[in-house]
Amino acid sequence: MILLTGVTGKTGGETAKQLLAKGVKFRAIVRSEAKAEALKAGGVDLVVGDLADATVVRKALDGVEKALLLLPNGKTQEANEKQFTDLAKSAGVKHLVKMSSMEAVAQAKTPIPRAHWAVEEYIRASGIAWTMVKPNFFMQNLLASAGSIKTQKRLSLPMGSGTTGMADVRDIAAICVEVFTSSGHVGRSYEITGPEILSFHDVAERFTELLGERIEYVPMPMDVFRERMKNVLEPWHLAAVAELFREIDEIGLDHTTDTFRKLTGREPISLRRFIQDHLALFKS
Ligand SMILES: NC(=O)c1ccc[n+]([C@@H]2O[C@H](COP(=O)([O-])OP(=O)(O)OC[C@H]3O[C@@H](n4cnc5c(N)ncnc54)[C@H](OP(=O)(O)O)[C@@H]3O)[C@@H](O)[C@H]2O)c1
Repeated sequence: MILLTGVTGKTGGETAKQLLAKGVKFRAIVRSEAKAEALKAGGVDLVVGDLADATVVRKALDGVEKALLLLPNGKTQEANEKQFTDLAKSAGVKHLVKMSSMEAVAQAKTPIPRAHWAVEEYIRASGIAWTMVKPNFFMQNLLASAGSIKTQKRLSLPMGSGTTGMADVRDIAAICVEVFTSSGHVGRSYEITGPEILSFHDVAERFTELLGERIEYVPMPMDVFRERMKNVLEPWHLAAVAELFREIDEIGLDHTTDTFRKLTGREPISLRRFIQDHLALFKS
């Protein structure tokens, strides 16, 4: 049995959809059964509860051989993921797949990559066979800017002139599916990027090209970002995201990886295709 977490979110949801399309049976932990109606209808075995609750996790792990550990960033992510690892070990899970990030390295300086790295190290020390899925910036993050692109013709983010190798969540999920449905992935860390390195000026140019009207990238000062997000993210999360975005501005990414091509034999989804696939959301 495979256990997935995060199936009502972006990457976990897409992983669930792709596994269902392949006819692979799995169980999922969800906080809201209502949000997972489609999965339930598709025959997914749902365990309802919070990952912070050891009783829920123990119940969900019963008879599980492989699990996807995915939690959103936040103050409790590291503790909840370490607890899940301990419970997975006790339950006899044979293969743990962790959603980490490409920035999670031993020298990571900012809180989110540091928490991911700490959990990676914890899993490696646990003795459970593991695979780390380490994506770069998600293209789907741009959906949060759909409103301003549509109405103000403007993309405004606090990433200055930083660069990313942004990847589509559909491709990241495809890697998770590959890990669950084929062999040779134990002890591997998969850094996943899209096909090109892009600044946010480049991103705005792609929108301009595909929407047929000028979209301008206007770097947002970090204090404006903090002010706008202060009622959206809790203080730890906001400070951590601000540090991560500052790092993208100051360091950025200078290379893409061929992980997706090697594992799937396909070309990764380009930003052009991502925009085309979501055109109605960005077009006025
Ligand atoms: N965004 C990026 O650019 C990026 C890049 C690299 C790596 N990552 C990593 O990707 C991960 C986030 O993935 P995502 O964006 O796909 O997630 P997401 O869309 O934010 O979804 C999070 C999922 O986790 C569930 N969840 C949250 N707290 C939970 C809890 N306490 N117990 C049980 N379930 C819980 C949510 O359920 P509800 O529906 O109930 O809320 C939802 O299904 C993070 O670890 C992040 O560091 C992100």
